[in-house]
Amino acid sequence: MKKLIFLLVVLAMKAVAQDSNTISITTSNAALIFKVGNNKRIYQSYFGSKLSNAAYPDKRIEAYVSGGMDFEFEPAIAVAHIDGNPSLELLYQRHKVENHSDGSVETDIFLKDMVYQTAVTLHFLSFPEQDVIKSWVSIQNNEKKEILLNNYASAMLHFNADQYWLTQFHGDWAKEMRLQEHQLTSGIKIIDSKLGTRANKYQSQHFFLTTGSQPATEDAGELIAGTLAWTGNFKYLFEIDNKNLLHLSAGINNYASTYHLQSGETFTAPAFIFTYSNKGKGLASRNLHNWARKYAVLDGEQGRLTLLNNWEATGFKFDQQKLTSLFDDAKKLDVDLFLLDDGWFGEKYPRDNATTGLGDWKVDKKKLPDGISYLVKSATDKGIKFGIWIEPEMVNPKSELYEKHPDWVLKLPNRAENYQRNQLVLDLINPKVQDFVFKVVDDLFQQNPNLAFIKWDCNRTITNGYSPYLKNNQTHLYIEYTKAFYAILDRVRKKYPHVPIMLCSGGGGRADYGAMKYFTEFWPSDDTDGQERIYIQWGYSYFFPANTIAAHVTSWGKQSLKFRTDVAMMDKLGYDIDISHFSKEELLFSQQAINNYKRFSPIIFQGNLYRLASPYEGNRAVLMYSDQSKNKAILFAYNLSSRYREVFSPVRLQGLNPLKQYQIKEINLMPNVKSAIAGNNKTFTGEYLMNIGIEVSKTNQEPLTSVVLEITATN
Ligand code: GLA
Repeated sequence: MKKLIFLLVVLAMKAVAQDSNTISITTSNAALIFKVGNNKRIYQSYFGSKLSNAAYPDKRIEAYVSGGMDFEFEPAIAVAHIDGNPSLELLYQRHKVENHSDGSVETDIFLKDMVYQTAVTLHFLSFPEQDVIKSWVSIQNNEKKEILLNNYASAMLHFNADQYWLTQFHGDWAKEMRLQEHQLTSGIKIIDSKLGTRANKYQSQHFFLTTGSQPATEDAGELIAGTLAWTGNFKYLFEIDNKNLLHLSAGINNYASTYHLQSGETFTAPAFIFTYSNKGKGLASRNLHNWARKYAVLDGEQGRLTLLNNWEATGFKFDQQKLTSLFDDAKKLDVDLFLLDDGWFGEKYPRDNATTGLGDWKVDKKKLPDGISYLVKSATDKGIKFGIWIEPEMVNPKSELYEKHPDWVLKLPNRAENYQRNQLVLDLINPKVQDFVFKVVDDLFQQNPNLAFIKWDCNRTITNGYSPYLKNNQTHLYIEYTKAFYAILDRVRKKYPHVPIMLCSGGGGRADYGAMKYFTEFWPSDDTDGQERIYIQWGYSYFFPANTIAAHVTSWGKQSLKFRTDVAMMDKLGYDIDISHFSKEELLFSQQAINNYKRFSPIIFQGNLYRLASPYEGNRAVLMYSDQSKNKAILFAYNLSSRYREVFSPVRLQGLNPLKQYQIKEINLMPNVKSAIAGNNKTFTGEYLMNIGIEVSKTNQEPLTSVVLEITATN
């Protein structure tokens, strides 16, 4: 008996010892497990599906690898000390777990180099219900002199599988978010941006990484979806080593950005956000949408304003009379808001085209003699809200601002100025410039308290970058610029917490969760051709909820107005088109579509998205949103370049209750056009719709046609 008790005590002690050496970051379905080694280093022992009995394998790869020690591959952090020693040995000190009142759980693991005293904290914020983890580090210089941070990834994750597949998104102006999928091979694959502002112009910071014998599909496969909350240069490094392990590090791009961390200072890296799914990309997207609406997007659980924008209809050519007539058009359409775009400002150098006036945020009296307040008032009198475009980070050399403050721009000494769209980037790092930019926004609101919306644009990247303000610290340029951008937005949001602001960047050059806590939506692309937009919006839908993806009906593209409207309706609907060219039927159709949209936008914005047929895999795109209670859903089906007599099989729906009956009704039809969908006005069980499916695209239907179905539970 004594022996047995002794054995039990020993076993219990062992379990306790093991427990105190184990740090578990978990969500409802995922687990990221760390172990503290006898040498006090911290190891990732497991990342994947959460197990019910917590019996995780004991594989050990150093969790957050530092350069200069014994790791033979790319480290997550590389530090050089004042004595030239380029290494860091991070040893476990303690960890802390805290439950936050918003449902998230924070785990901080404190590590320290015992010789040099520099400390690194690994932060993990898990959102159990949404299956999302945010991970970042802070680096504290406890040494007597400055240290050089040569690399400072936000997070490192290790994977152990036979094969790895990367789904990445790339593009350029008017061709954003094109999906590419390929197998990773041994060595390093980097996806990064060196563009500073407009950082997503070529590469996006959103990706899927699948482990398994083929890339994950919508409904199957084990993967993570990852994204970085940073509106500047980013870098993802995927390295497959000699043992076929994959090491992923994610963070700010260290390109030209060695950071001098002074004694006593702390460097905090932005959060890498990821969700784990073992049921394909669809679930990963829904996890991110649920998380983003609740935690990451400004007013993510609120509605959005439908609008009429004048950019595509008028460009820079408008006057007071034209604008007030457009208010009538907005009213006719019954949208919520009129958005005045570029071209309303400039006194000495009127903004009549893209070469002048940027930076001079005073109204152009020749175009608008009674000023902005007159426009706000006259729109308000007509029963619509008023919003305005600004691009406050930029300046045209032909402007009063540049004449007054030539030292307020980023430009290299001893080199020619380098323009994109005839403009330069302001040196936001200079606090005086921050005050100026804040004042641009503040003055607009002070002078026009009823101003209801802002479109914040950013039309160039940083090239030839040099901040006169930073002087000898130019390697801080990219990081400090982004921080300054946030500092301004912090001030704006402190004073104006809820005014909707659209993040725009010459189309979709900026779309990230670092910015989205200040913005209600983003402009995904200047390309509003209905067919192109399907791919662009499809790409963003993997990572962002529909209420953040602005989608406007314009005159780009040769498709019918119905097709372009149906495309814009799958996200945050707006108009940017001269409606005086609409036929009677088109106007009536648009009015009905907006009415439908008002009914359905709560489901589109807050429901669950199911992508049912990918435009990358066939000649059509089909997706649906269903509400959380599974009582109402809306389905969008777009025929792309469908061939003559192409046969489209029935589509199995998702997100319904198998036991309920649902009535199918085609909506958004042109006046006097009858539905050609066989199931129109018929009732099916959820089980039928999800297992057998219904026809949503007619054989012989023209290419570039579309169908919108309303799906309503009847019991
Ligand atoms: C950028 C935006 C457009 C429009 C123009 C105005 O290109 O993406 O939507 O606002 O600027 O100059």
